[in-house]
Amino acid sequence: PTPVYLDCDTGVDDALALALLLASPEADLVGVGTVSGNTGAEQAAANTLALLALAGRAGVPVAVGAGNASVPVPHIHGANGLGDVLLPASGESPAAESAAELLIGLSHTHAGRLHVVAVGPLTNLATALELDGTLPERVASVTVMGGAARSPGNITAVAEANIGNDPEAARRVFAAPWDITLVPLDVTLVNRLTEDDRRRLEESGRPVARTLGLILNRYFDFYVSVYGLRCAALHDPLAAALAIGCVEPLLAPRVSVTIDDTHGPGRGQTICDLRGQWRDYPEQPGVRSRVVLSTTQPLAPILMERLLA
Ligand code: BDR
Ligand code: CA
Repeated sequence: PTPVYLDCDTGVDDALALALLLASPEADLVGVGTVSGNTGAEQAAANTLALLALAGRAGVPVAVGAGNASVPVPHIHGANGLGDVLLPASGESPAAESAAELLIGLSHTHAGRLHVVAVGPLTNLATALELDGTLPERVASVTVMGGAARSPGNITAVAEANIGNDPEAARRVFAAPWDITLVPLDVTLVNRLTEDDRRRLEESGRPVARTLGLILNRYFDFYVSVYGLRCAALHDPLAAALAIGCVEPLLAPRVSVTIDDTHGPGRGQTICDLRGQWRDYPEQPGVRSRVVLSTTQPLAPILMERLLA
């Protein structure tokens, strides 16, 4: 299995990504770092530890990472990040090191094999690059849920939350010399769970699946304001699924991605040069970023099967 470091702001859909990685034979989750986003970085670590304990995987190290300018979103993820469902505290403490230090350490332990899945603001990855500029040489791939290639943003007209909450960090992460794949709103918003899926999770005898069903309740309420029906966009689990290959990209052109970190109306925009997908468009030398625009199959049935197995 692929060694995976997950960087997240746990978070309802982050919890789905974590559960998918734990349930997937392709992945060996070797560490989790948390960042402020859906909730504060410390609360995100407590949430992650509680979910790991529930899954019987309390041994996975969890490190608290950076704060940033993001504002918690209780109307989407609840005041505690998990839809205000109270999980039993795990009894475990976060690692003594920071998330950036944990990532650097894991890049040495799993040199050349480590896959990084980043589903929150990119603050920890940027800090890790600042601490150790050689990090990209030891990382096999970076998969980021974030941005919007052709779709509108979700926190401003052009900015998606993970990028828009720390555009300076995102700019540095996309400028670094590693193979990086962006999984933007364009593809995550069309991969959804239905109310029927949620109910099946809630009615499951499996503790993780049941808890996810409960946690998803408030998130489903929020999506009524987006789609007019109770459902959930599978942002973070889609990035996790693509990183470990249980879902394949159909269209993922290699194109340059520039992050707008100016203070104008474009702040947080992911400027994806999609001319790169045109036939015969001259290859842009040195471009290492891919943008996933569609997948060969929908994620929901695969996710449900793995969570209920
Ligand atoms: C992204 O922002 C967070 O709210 C979600 O967990 C996801 O990572 C979607 O814009
Ligand atoms: Ca997230």
